[in-house]
Amino acid sequence: MNKSYVIWNNKGGVGKSTITFHIASMYAEKNPDRNVVVIDMCPQANSSMMLMGGGTGAESRLQELIMGDIPKTVVGYLTDSVLKNDTTDVNKYLIQLNESNSKLPSNLFLMPGDGNLELIAPLLAERADATPLSSTDSPWVEIHSIIKKLTERTLFGKPTTFFIDTNPSFSIIHK
Ligand SMILES: Nc1ncnc2c1ncn2[C@@H]1O[C@H](COP(=O)(O)OP(=O)(O)OP(=O)(O)O)[C@@H](O)[C@H]1O
Ligand SMILES: [Mg+2]
Repeated sequence: MNKSYVIWNNKGGVGKSTITFHIASMYAEKNPDRNVVVIDMCPQANSSMMLMGGGTGAESRLQELIMGDIPKTVVGYLTDSVLKNDTTDVNKYLIQLNESNSKLPSNLFLMPGDGNLELIAPLLAERADATPLSSTDSPWVEIHSIIKKLTERTLFGKPTTFFIDTNPSFSIIHK
């Protein structure tokens, strides 16, 4: 059974990303029977940087992921969900952290943060406000459930625990 935890506070700089980094990595180590996925919903991508080992190495690796044809980040996942309605291959958006940071356990994965997240917020808002095409069509619910639905998926054949880092605001990307 999957579990998910959101780390959110309306105040900035109080340690959300640091806590995300610590709890996700400790939890993964203590729960080898589960997969652990950090979803970094903060455009500053601080927890991604820490999980990727920090420093200039993590910075350039993150840039590479952001610059891909399909960004290997939360932006890639959200845009493919909205524009293609197909995110079947979750490997396109996740990295296994111990490939770049050997100190982390092999069951810990990251959907990296992406500075372009703010830029796609209007696309999400526009899609959410679309007129329903039938009585069963609910664009608003659909758009606002993209990440929730992700936390219900079984990834790589094991129950998964998700930790979601956020930034200090309450916008469409956090619902
Ligand atoms: N327990 C702690 N003790 C001392 N310093 C800490 C602690 N936790 C975090 N910090 C430091 O406080 C600063 C802010 O931490 P962090 O980036 O985790 O906060 P945040 O809530 O994620 O910020 P933001 O709102 O910008 O996303 C960082 O420099 C971090 O190293
Ligand atoms: Mg933060």
